[in-house]
Amino acid sequence: MSIPRPATAGLVIAVDGTSGSGKSSTCRGVASRLGLAYLDTGAMFRAVTWWMLEHGVDVHDAAAVAARAHEAVVVSGTDPAGPTITVGGQDVSAPIRLVEVNAAVSPVSTVPVVRSLLLDLQRSIISHALTGPGIVVEGRDIGSVVWPQAPVKVYLSADPAARAARRAAEEGAADVAATEESLRARDRIDSGRTTAPLTLADGAVAIDSTSATLDQVIQQVVDLVDRARAAPEDGRG
Ligand code: DC
Repeated sequence: MSIPRPATAGLVIAVDGTSGSGKSSTCRGVASRLGLAYLDTGAMFRAVTWWMLEHGVDVHDAAAVAARAHEAVVVSGTDPAGPTITVGGQDVSAPIRLVEVNAAVSPVSTVPVVRSLLLDLQRSIISHALTGPGIVVEGRDIGSVVWPQAPVKVYLSADPAARAARRAAEEGAADVAATEESLRARDRIDSGRTTAPLTLADGAVAIDSTSATLDQVIQQVVDLVDRARAAPEDGRG
């Protein structure tokens, strides 16, 4: 017989997937509904990228990025109602969404030193959240590398045209074709890199959001959480 446990004890929900598949809205919605913290790891990579651009580092020179990575000190706030991100004490929540950062973030994310610095930070934020109800974490390698023991893992995708239309609307971009090309370019780099590529993690449930509403996708994830909580005690946390 399994030991009863509190419904909210230290839960990690790992959500990976392609750019523009609706991860952020889904994760924030799930976290708000379940009273969990929320971590956007993409924003962390974007913050480091913004810092590199701001300091004139050539983002295509992996050695140059690696040499200065430890100087870009990122702090992430985990309230799903108002997530915050600073680097070097500066609020960068707006500039990390600029097209210049979109174009540079995948190359910066391939640099192993950048990944290992942020991995330590991500794991410490998750560990801290586990002292409370838990956390929803979105990224590319959460279920495969950052927290493979997560009891709920989701791989979110949508077809590229739908993703581009959503992203262009969010960013107020007129050129949907250019947005689609930028998403596809990031997908190629994110899936093809050697360290922690975007992949369907062991045990992840794939959800295609192309023709689903945000509420429907949130409900699908909440259903997975309910199922995990009803399952016998194993691999929690
Ligand atoms: O989720 P996003 O589009 O804001 O992520 C921006 C980039 O950050 C993405 O193209 C690849 C990188 N990233 C990563 O390599 N690993 C993560 N866990 C999250 C994001």
